Amino acid sequence: MDFYVTTPIYYVNDKPHIGHAYTTIVADVLARWRASQGEHITFSTGVDENSQKTVDAAKKAGEEIRAYTDRMADIWQAAWAKLGISNTDFIRTTEERHLEVVRDIWGRIDAAGDLYKGTYEGLYCKGHEAFIKESDLVDGVCPEHKTEPEVVKEENYFFKLSEYQDKLLRFYDAHPDFVVPANRFQEVKSFVEQGLEDISFSREGKDWGIPVPNDPHQAIYVWADALVNYITVKGIEGWESHPADVHTVGKDILRFHAVIWPAMLMSAGLPLPGQIAANGFITNAGVKMSKSLGNGVNPFDLVARYGVDAMRYFLLREIQYGEDGDYSEEKMKTRYNADLANGLGNFAARVLTLAEKETGSASGGVKFGELDEEFSKTIADTRRIVEGKMAAFRFSDALAAIWDAVSFGDRYVNDTKVWEIKDDAVRGKALFNLVSLLDNVAALLPPFIPETSRKIAASIEWKDGILNAKKPDVLFPRVK
Ligand code: MSP
Repeated sequence: MDFYVTTPIYYVNDKPHIGHAYTTIVADVLARWRASQGEHITFSTGVDENSQKTVDAAKKAGEEIRAYTDRMADIWQAAWAKLGISNTDFIRTTEERHLEVVRDIWGRIDAAGDLYKGTYEGLYCKGHEAFIKESDLVDGVCPEHKTEPEVVKEENYFFKLSEYQDKLLRFYDAHPDFVVPANRFQEVKSFVEQGLEDISFSREGKDWGIPVPNDPHQAIYVWADALVNYITVKGIEGWESHPADVHTVGKDILRFHAVIWPAMLMSAGLPLPGQIAANGFITNAGVKMSKSLGNGVNPFDLVARYGVDAMRYFLLREIQYGEDGDYSEEKMKTRYNADLANGLGNFAARVLTLAEKETGSASGGVKFGELDEEFSKTIADTRRIVEGKMAAFRFSDALAAIWDAVSFGDRYVNDTKVWEIKDDAVRGKALFNLVSLLDNVAALLPPFIPETSRKIAASIEWKDGILNAKKPDVLFPRVK
């Protein structure tokens, strides 16, 4: 089975912050989860270069646009590599393979009679890369980007989005899980039910961006180009035979993905993606982190202090998927010490230290045996709960279930006082229970904390009826 998951393609006007890392990590969790179930993965991420923001940022940096985007694309690609993201492709919208597909899709939408020329008059927010209504402004500025919109009057190509209202609503009805979480889907439906206006699909006289076929004075609207990246990654035939299973996005760009994108695909006669999963915002002291505002926390500062796995764990456990979540150093430290250092790290160290003592001792190591009923039940229940929670994008609950299993193991160590059991067979049985539990916990962890999971699994060797354990280096050193 194939599984195709995507992240948004990020603007290159700045470096990644933990908000971007969060969306990418969510896609990575889904990719690793499906890989652990034996599926073949296509996982794409990349950068959205044909934006006016790129031009402005290059100018600000005093660089030629191409050189600037090349440098920034490298920064983004290197960032995901450093965070151990398992993407199988990295797409840039200035690549030839993308231009070809964009032109093809534009031609299909045109051939369907869904493009016409008209005059657009209104306000444009560069931060959003979208037209914005007067009524959306607060004190004359865009409330999200805190900038004044441009007043625009120009000739544009329009996409007949208004024609797709009924088709979209029918599609939503037939696909009740198309947008997750459900409350966000409700917002999308209400928006569409209120009626859709045609949207401007090109900009006049822009010299950066993909030219409209046969009308080079017009550049294709950056969103009409960017969304198509998901097709480019697979090629048109590849998309036809297997479109994306999940597009992970932030709630800020949900409408583009859940309304405009399906309408474009319907118009082009192509299949629709399976699901759009929208995360909330990570805030810094209550304010959305953003490149425009410059209040983003650098993921690498966090990684330097806590490690990649700890950052992943924090984001996935602390934030209920779909909701906003506030980042603070204090919260990070608390979670780290409580759940990782004292929780999983301590449990693994206790169990593996006790088991290591048996290796090569008079007892002859921990022997394979039958698990006690409460252990086999805990393991099976945990796996079942995690599977259900993953299908519902409830990553925090999935982790909570795994940590419940760890707490169960911890209580067992305390209650039985394994180290005081004199009888080799009884002690061996207790250790067999514990190491099996730990090994099964580790087997559920790769999607979330891959490195730690590998370290635990590598400390346990099952061979010839004997279980050998080796205590690993401290998994999560306490942080003051
Ligand atoms: N280029 C467009 C996307 C085109 S996809 C066809 C874009 N880029 S972006 O760089 O501005 O942001 C992309 C995504 O980054 C957001 O949708 C969201 O997933 C993520 N985030 C950016 N800031 C974020 C937070 N503060 N919190 C959580 N996610 C954030 O929009």
